[in-house]
Amino acid sequence: MGYRVAVVGATGNVGREMLNILEEVDFPVEKIHAIASRKSIGVEVSFGDQILKCEDVEQFDFSTVDVVLMSVSGSFSKEWSPKIGAAGPIVIDNSSAWRMDPDVPLVVPEVNPDDVEWANRKNIIANPNCSTAQLVVALKPLHDRARIKRVVVSTYQSVSGAGKEGMDELFDQTKNVFVLGATPPKKFPKQIAFNVIPFIGAFQDDGYTDEEAKMWNETHKMIDPAIKLTVTCVRVPVMVGHSEAVNIEFHEPLDEDEARDILRDSPGLIVIDKRDDKGYMTPKEAQGEFPVFVSRIRNDPTVENGLNLWVVADNLRKGAALNAVQIAELLHARGLIRQKALA
Ligand SMILES: NC(=O)c1ccc[n+]([C@@H]2O[C@H](COP(=O)([O-])OP(=O)(O)OC[C@H]3O[C@@H](n4cnc5c(N)ncnc54)[C@H](OP(=O)(O)O)[C@@H]3O)[C@@H](O)[C@H]2O)c1
Repeated sequence: MGYRVAVVGATGNVGREMLNILEEVDFPVEKIHAIASRKSIGVEVSFGDQILKCEDVEQFDFSTVDVVLMSVSGSFSKEWSPKIGAAGPIVIDNSSAWRMDPDVPLVVPEVNPDDVEWANRKNIIANPNCSTAQLVVALKPLHDRARIKRVVVSTYQSVSGAGKEGMDELFDQTKNVFVLGATPPKKFPKQIAFNVIPFIGAFQDDGYTDEEAKMWNETHKMIDPAIKLTVTCVRVPVMVGHSEAVNIEFHEPLDEDEARDILRDSPGLIVIDKRDDKGYMTPKEAQGEFPVFVSRIRNDPTVENGLNLWVVADNLRKGAALNAVQIAELLHARGLIRQKALA
């Protein structure tokens, strides 16, 4: 018997990817609903061979489903997730609204699967930020072996991380730049076509952005609060796929060969690391793929017990939709999804 599933935010970048992935994996779906805002009522989205017509979130009876995969804004989730969770289904949320709530597990199945066991406190499980998700999959097995002291990350984040408006802006600016001159920025603070922007999110008082703070806060919650992590988040003119240059310092010795072996044997990771033109991953090649890819594994000779990595993943998949579906699969495997008779 399958589950009754609602995808909220089904017209968005992440929502559409959730529908694709639900169709690709073995998660048992009995009935599926595509939910979006009122303006999208009747808009058609694909679920395998089926065409689903979007329903209005305001009119939908959430007590008739078992699992809600949610990918709308944080403010929307703050208002809606508790109401939906109270109506019965488990909410797996992609926004930043609940990630640091002590009563809401923040889960990457390869990293902290056991945390799903206490999801019933609020019937909400949070997905991490897309850049954190791919980072922690690579950090966790190395931390288990040699205890991470400090991590320095620079991100190269694609425009799809800013939703479908972000992708439209890169496409339009790129098209127009040689003809009409670049169209003025709307979604991003500066021109993104043929440029990079060292700013994502909002500035905090300490000069970091909230996007950067999410990466250390979420790493602390999922792996270990003792890990010191500093980061610069950068938006780049790539449609899909986030990349990260990661420098790690360990308490215990760990060289590049052992790190490569550990990463090769770890869940959710593929190591592509040869010293030739095909021996490293780019975001273009990661688009549409499930795993997190690790390349350019090198000893860092400037510190004791240091390593450098290049980490790439599809931000709409492992960074968002895939991770959410994997959480649903984990809940299913552990018998933690409530199944009720259809209302
Ligand atoms: N993109 C990523 O890499 C990524 C990664 C991790 C987490 N996230 C998070 O996931 C969430 C969605 O991101 P996205 O990239 O998919 O955004 P998006 O492409 O802009 O899509 C937003 C979705 O939310 C729906 N929506 C907006 N207001 C609504 C309302 N009042 N009621 C019901 N539905 C409403 C939209 O429906 P309409 O079409 O009807 O407006 C659309 O389906 C965000 O919180 C984002 O931070 C994104």
